[in-house]
Amino acid sequence: TNSLPVYSQEEVTKHCSIEKGVWVTYKGGVYDITDFVTVHPGGDKILLAAGKALEPFWALYGVHEQEHVLEILSEYKVGIL
Ligand code: HEM
Repeated sequence: TNSLPVYSQEEVTKHCSIEKGVWVTYKGGVYDITDFVTVHPGGDKILLAAGKALEPFWALYGVHEQEHVLEILSEYKVGIL
């Protein structure tokens, strides 16, 4: 939806741990994936992207190039970058 708040990269960067919350960005969207971390099929690796953009990591792990993965991600959208 277009009523989501706009966040700065600085704000996203602060959310870089389970304690502070785990946020990531993807194509201009901001996602709070804290609740997904423990159920991620790829385990703790997901925390490498905490506070950062997903793109460079997903470029390395092509398993994410599926509609299913984007559907999961969309559930966690909290804002716009
Ligand atoms: C696997 C989702 C971030 C590394 C998967 C799978 C899903 C998923 C659904 C299973 C795919 C399948 O087998 O069909 C996500 C989502 C992410 C995310 C929604 C972000 C919100 C990351 C990051 C990394 C990563 C940042 C690496 C730094 C992996 C690896 C696997 C995997 C290595 C393969 C695990 C295996 O099959 O042994 N991810 N992922 N993921 N993910 Fe992620």
